[in-house]
Amino acid sequence: MTDKTNPRPIRRLNETVVNRIAAGEIINRPANALKELIENSLDAGASNIQITVKDGGLKLLQILDNGHGIRFVLKKEDMTIVCERFTTSKLKNFEDLSNINTYGFRGEALASISHVAHVTITTKTADSNCAYRACYSDGKLVPAKPGTNAEPKACAGNTGTQITAEDLFYNVPTRRKALKSPSDEYNRILDVVNRYAIHNSGVSFTCKKQGSNQAEVNTLSMSSVLDNIRQIYGSIASELLGLSKSFKKLEFKLNGYISNANYNLKKMIFLLFINHRAVENSSLKKAIESIYTTYLPKNTHPFAYLSLEINPQNVDVNVHPTKREVRFLNEDEVIAAVGDAIQESLAGANSSRTFLTQTLLPGAESIETNTNLAENSIKKSGVKVLNYKLVRTDSRVQTLDDFCNPDNTFNMQPKDNPKKGNNNFPNSSKNIVNSNVGSSNLKRKRERFDVRLTSILTLRKRLKEIEHKGLTELLANHTFVGCVDDSLTLALVQHQTKLYMVNYNVLSEELFYQLALYGFHNFGFIHLSIPAPIRELTIFALESCDHDKSEDLKPNEEISQIIIDQLISRKEMLLEYFSMTITENGELATLPLMLKGYAPNLDKLPTFLLRLGTEVDWETETGCFETLSRELGLFYAPEPPNFSNISTSISNNQDDNSMDICDTSNVNKDNSLLLPKRKSSEKETNLIFTEQQKKAEIARYKWQIEHLIFPTLKSQFIAPKSIAENGHVLQIANLPDLYRIFERC
Ligand SMILES: Nc1ncnc2c1ncn2[C@@H]1O[C@H](COP(=O)(O)OP(=O)(O)OP(=O)(O)O)[C@@H](O)[C@H]1O
Ligand SMILES: [Mg+2]
Repeated sequence: MTDKTNPRPIRRLNETVVNRIAAGEIINRPANALKELIENSLDAGASNIQITVKDGGLKLLQILDNGHGIRFVLKKEDMTIVCERFTTSKLKNFEDLSNINTYGFRGEALASISHVAHVTITTKTADSNCAYRACYSDGKLVPAKPGTNAEPKACAGNTGTQITAEDLFYNVPTRRKALKSPSDEYNRILDVVNRYAIHNSGVSFTCKKQGSNQAEVNTLSMSSVLDNIRQIYGSIASELLGLSKSFKKLEFKLNGYISNANYNLKKMIFLLFINHRAVENSSLKKAIESIYTTYLPKNTHPFAYLSLEINPQNVDVNVHPTKREVRFLNEDEVIAAVGDAIQESLAGANSSRTFLTQTLLPGAESIETNTNLAENSIKKSGVKVLNYKLVRTDSRVQTLDDFCNPDNTFNMQPKDNPKKGNNNFPNSSKNIVNSNVGSSNLKRKRERFDVRLTSILTLRKRLKEIEHKGLTELLANHTFVGCVDDSLTLALVQHQTKLYMVNYNVLSEELFYQLALYGFHNFGFIHLSIPAPIRELTIFALESCDHDKSEDLKPNEEISQIIIDQLISRKEMLLEYFSMTITENGELATLPLMLKGYAPNLDKLPTFLLRLGTEVDWETETGCFETLSRELGLFYAPEPPNFSNISTSISNNQDDNSMDICDTSNVNKDNSLLLPKRKSSEKETNLIFTEQQKKAEIARYKWQIEHLIFPTLKSQFIAPKSIAENGHVLQIANLPDLYRIFERC
């Protein structure tokens, strides 16, 4: 307690205490430290930044860049004083602050980190023959091991800098205790990386936990801001409106992306950059939120990425110890101008939303195929269509998900008609970055082989013989409504005034069978970046089979060898007709690209390979093509995401007609392909997926169904009678009947 009568003496604090208190202001959690380190790398001109984290950054925070490095040979002092307070290469005079074009200016960040953590710097400049490594504590060089000298040591390394901060806050126990769990700290770290990765489109970022093969953030240096948003936030990217405007009087430029009125989130995502600094501005945030209240359902929020480039003379960057905020002149006017630009953009997008309608001719049974004709006829006749005969004909009009889960972060799907060559794929590990959705290779422009083989022509003809014309027409003219069940096999589609429930898993198997027959000899290639070892995969599939192993069954190795021999002996045929490359070593290197933008789920690869040996009739030509196509149908049919495996990453090749696919779940550190994980490891690997990632995976899966599978069912599918008869497509409602019921109520 303070003694009121006796004031305490005033003392000068010792330097270590001063420095530690100062450090506490700048570095208050791992995410701050990382922000400073990222900014240093960007200031050093890095185009590649790799971040590794352990225990939410408390145990280890490491950043590796390919920037210009820190000098040692030419100027020994640089490495010696780099962690001292107020040492910087970025600012000389106070006046420079008004024109600063680097993130750093105070020369305090590294010093602060070194006062609360053990810092190691390894760095190499382009003109040095080798890298140098040194350790720092409390701003000073310290020996790496007791008894050795503290001088930087020569070591191997590439041009650039690696900075490691270990045991953050080891000497500030109260701060350490006040921090949340490592996973919470890691999420904050990811938030920082996400922001910088999105904004710095010329720089590639990766961020991962130490020891993990999978990076949570992984952007490429050639990607645009929009690509980066897609990479990080998935399907959000397809719901964004671009902003780009200059305000001469207020001396600033605005660029950015904001979500449209059809999209909403539980919590606002607001990425704000002022003169390229990631900052916060609550007034601007509030202004944006209030604009969206007229567009979004209650308690839902928008996404906004805004980059303001304000005349540096009008900005004061030196207002917050962590540089979290900046002040700028005419703040109210600038915020109002940004608000107007957003308002304008939203209003513009809103007025161009289209709601197409179509009437049914009285008593007509046949289906109107040309929606435009129907639309025109309404316009021309001017006859008012009764509500209960209004037919929604355009899936750009909201789908079921939009109504059912307004809170779901990832529920909104791209509304553009995929047939218009829209490239808005959610960029995901399980999706393709860039492709023409819905146009299978049946429609590709490249020169096609004219297939004259009687066997294939017969099989195609057979499809026509067993066709259910009504169902084909229904699917050809349907409007997608939405996926409806948790097991992700059922969807609702609308046809005229009727609503149908469709089992798209069953339909997809048949669809890919037909695509196999029609794409025969004309497929593109899916390249497996690591060829799949047929032996291991088939043995794995055999071991996973539940069947009782009878005495007379051959050993698994032998069965697997038979399959390999079988496939190698037919490798020319498989390559030519099915784009499947079998190597002499018994590996599968490519698969057919059956539907542009779509790759099969590699979890099914072992079973597929096994069934090539057991289910394909290799003896007769027709039998072989039919059974092989059936197996491709089974393999390619979409499978709901299985969170026991880490995802498959696919990237589009430069070649429009091929893509690369890499199953990261099976790739060991040394790049060898492992067997897929077994179900028993589900618990353990489940930890890898956050709830958000699971939601994103499900949203992407649904996106594929809506934007790849159903459009192809619409344009390519010949519905067999068996599907119609076995209840895989069921009518569940008819609008006029519903009206009759409501009228009675
Ligand atoms: N990754 C890096 N690559 C090259 N040089 C670096 C790197 N990180 C730090 N430096 C050098 O170390 C100096 C000190 O860095 P520090 O972050 O402490 O200060 P600053 O960036 O100059 O200012 P601020 O405290 O505002 O960040 C920098 O000025 C820069 O010269
Ligand atoms: Mg700095």
